[in-house]
Amino acid sequence: MKELEHIAIILDGNGRWAKKRGLPRKAGHIEGAKTLEKICRAAYKRGIKYLTVYAFSTENWNRPEDEVSAIMKLFGTYLDKCIKDSKKDNMVVRMIGDRERLSDTLKDKVKELEDVSKDNTGLNLTIAINYGGRAEILNSFKEIYKKISDGALAVDEITEDVISENLYTKDIPDPDLILRTSGEMRLSNFLLWQAAYSEFLFVDCAWPDFDENELDKAIEEYNKRDRRFGAIKEDK
Ligand code: FPP
Repeated sequence: MKELEHIAIILDGNGRWAKKRGLPRKAGHIEGAKTLEKICRAAYKRGIKYLTVYAFSTENWNRPEDEVSAIMKLFGTYLDKCIKDSKKDNMVVRMIGDRERLSDTLKDKVKELEDVSKDNTGLNLTIAINYGGRAEILNSFKEIYKKISDGALAVDEITEDVISENLYTKDIPDPDLILRTSGEMRLSNFLLWQAAYSEFLFVDCAWPDFDENELDKAIEEYNKRDRRFGAIKEDK
């Protein structure tokens, strides 16, 4: 069994969590941000080295404007906290996705957090914001094309590794486990290239309710899986 070093999570169910309690959707996102902080600590304690979370997709811009601005405000608050606590948290934080559509303030905060946290030695947290898997692959092709045009690469030298090295995730390994909360069984354009050999797990729990116990259950489930990467098991 390959060691579980990278969990990628599709954070889902904040809205439904809030609705069930008669609260505005925003309240679900605020609770979801608290859950993220707890799960980062809990995952690292359990030996997980990489945690990647899908916080905002390219399609999420289609939500009502007040919800989008509440989420962006929350990202800002979260980034400020991460910058302030960077030494204590010891996390290396990266953002993946297209930054162009983010406000200048958010772009600056992301850059500052990436800079202050890059030499930390704890959990590698990657936050996908304005992220789409197809857009990421398309972007990789454009980067490769530029290298070919510049004469830095030949067509025959394009390999799977070259494509991986031109993705937003070039510095992190592919996820061992992709988990989605709140019952939906879709990938929703998340880490399409990187998911080739990932294990998938869909849990009913809404993201704000996801806790250490749910994390332990996910790890236990992963450990029961038999990852063969297309090969035949030796004892068969
Ligand atoms: C998913 O629930 C949540 C989002 C798309 C919003 C963004 C996530 C957070 C605020 C969590 C914390 C992340 C950071 C980086 C601070 P949903 O709204 O799709 O839920 P629903 O499917 O029940 O409507």
